[in-house]
Amino acid sequence: MRSSWLRLILLLHFLLLDGQILPSQSKAATPTPPPLPALPVPSAAQLRWQRREVIMFFHFGMNTFTDSEWGTGRESPAIFDPAGLDAAQWIDDAAAAAGASLVILTAKHHDGFCLWPSRYTDHSVARSPWRNGRGDVVRELADAARDRGVDFGVYLSPWDRHERTYGRDVEYNEFYMAQLRELLTRYGTVSEIWFDGAKGKNATNMTYYFEDWFETVKQLQGSINIFSDAGPDVRWVGDESGFAGSTCWSTINRTMLRIGDAGIVNYLNTGDPRGTDWVPPECDVSIRPGWFWHKNETAKPLSQLLDIYYKAVGRNCVLLLNVPPNSTGLISKGDTVRLREFRSAIETIFGTDFAKGSKAKASSQRGGDGGGFAASNVLDGDDDTFWAPKAEEVSRGERQGYWIELSELNPWSRFNVIRIQEAIAMGQRIRLHFVFVDGAAVANGTTVGHKRLHRLETAACGRTVRIWIAESRGPPLLSEVGLHFDPFVEQSKNRAK
Ligand SMILES: *[C@@H]1O[C@H](CO)[C@@H](O)[C@H](O)[C@H]1NC(C)=O
Ligand SMILES: *[C@@H]1O[C@H](CO)[C@@H](O)[C@H](O)[C@H]1NC(C)=O
Ligand SMILES: *[C@@H]1O[C@H](CO)[C@@H](O)[C@H](O)[C@H]1NC(C)=O
Ligand SMILES: *[C@@H]1O[C@H](CO)[C@@H](O)[C@H](O)[C@H]1NC(C)=O
Ligand SMILES: *[C@@H]1O[C@H](CO)[C@@H](O)[C@H](O)[C@H]1NC(C)=O
Ligand SMILES: *[C@@H]1O[C@H](CO)[C@@H](O)[C@H](O)[C@H]1NC(C)=O
Repeated sequence: MRSSWLRLILLLHFLLLDGQILPSQSKAATPTPPPLPALPVPSAAQLRWQRREVIMFFHFGMNTFTDSEWGTGRESPAIFDPAGLDAAQWIDDAAAAAGASLVILTAKHHDGFCLWPSRYTDHSVARSPWRNGRGDVVRELADAARDRGVDFGVYLSPWDRHERTYGRDVEYNEFYMAQLRELLTRYGTVSEIWFDGAKGKNATNMTYYFEDWFETVKQLQGSINIFSDAGPDVRWVGDESGFAGSTCWSTINRTMLRIGDAGIVNYLNTGDPRGTDWVPPECDVSIRPGWFWHKNETAKPLSQLLDIYYKAVGRNCVLLLNVPPNSTGLISKGDTVRLREFRSAIETIFGTDFAKGSKAKASSQRGGDGGGFAASNVLDGDDDTFWAPKAEEVSRGERQGYWIELSELNPWSRFNVIRIQEAIAMGQRIRLHFVFVDGAAVANGTTVGHKRLHRLETAACGRTVRIWIAESRGPPLLSEVGLHFDPFVEQSKNRAK
């Protein structure tokens, strides 16, 4: 008995002296710090917004009852009567069904009719027969959204074709600001506010005081994102088809942007690799031909919605999909069915990742194997962890050899979508990249950003997938790589034959 104890003690002593226990414990104690960010970087609110990927617009108001897209301001509140309005249905059957985590309501469109009982005008729901003039669409939607864990936002048209003071500089700006305050103080947290620059012909002597509005918005809602052509937080993508540029930088020079300036749409579409401001683009598009509900219109087919998804979310943007409630005050069946198909298609495509279980290696790893920036971080399903190469390579100046490779893939797994994601919290960096399957080039592109989706003409399979980053602003930092199969592109190709 005693001799076996002695032997054990001797053995432990030997191990300690030999450096097999203590030093290996202390080795893990000092992790490698992350690299410096490549400025500019997103604010916390912008980063949360970007990860939403799909959000929803509800165009609803007087136009819903007059079968028009632009009202005149002379409509009678007596015709606004969405007898079956159920905001919970908008959230459950449209927003949640499509996976949207934020909804934005047209609280007032160009016709000036207010969906909430504004104290500053009588052209509102208060004068309508709906809920005997005691209704408030803004409140009903804000409450229904909050109850279901969906965030809320508003659009307040600067152009007001009803308001008497419209066109008088100071007076109208005071009026507008008062309505803005109502919307931003009465309904709890507002996560996004949407401005456009549309202006009436009789407003030549008037300017919109955007700077005053924006500062007031930030004062009243600290974590809000302000959308306009020119930001400050989220910019317009430059078209209403929902397509971002195949080069799409979240960075841009705000000094070059003007709200309502048609001359800058290309700049808005692609952004600026040398831009000093982080103002990522949002792709607004309607599920139907029009923005408001019309009896004669129906939802776009699934294939078109998926195409929009690839060209918006798959090009570093957030997709703002408009779904117009009908004159009953409900989202029409055809639209809700299409939205479920859309979500289910996305889950089918991205629910299976053929990169899972593969081995990841890279040109280099910051801090080596235990440094915390291993190539395998791109397979962990966590957008916050990332692969970082060693920094020394930056100084070489010439085209760098940054690459990451997934190997030991199942050679029988066919994939036709390649998903690449940058760790954008550290800045957007990649300027040019190429993808190879077993050494053969299958895809290439410029920017990546939060998410880049490459659709392949023909499905690929192989043992290795290599992503070569040929140009970047500093070392590229990849958070995720995925390989997926989209059966819907195949189906539409077969139909086309
Ligand atoms: C502009 O037109 C609207 C009606 O569309 C009117 O209420 C407003 O007073 C007009 N403004 C000026 C400055 O004429
Ligand atoms: C704009 O101002 C000019 C000069 O003060 C005035 O003559 C004109 O009527 C104004 N236009 C409108 C639409 O109010
Ligand atoms: C944006 O600003 C940066 C820094 O001032 C500048 O280098 C770049 O050329 C600007 N972009 C354009 C398109 O002018
Ligand atoms: C449906 O009707 C509206 C209003 O009459 C019209 O503006 C629109 O062009 C029509 N849409 C289609 C697809 O015909
Ligand atoms: C609005 O949509 C609901 C749900 O599909 C439907 O029951 C209702 O009849 C629709 N209203 C109109 C005016 O089409
Ligand atoms: C990039 O991909 C396109 C097809 O998407 C192809 O035509 C082109 O040759 C590729 N460029 C390079 C340099 O491989």
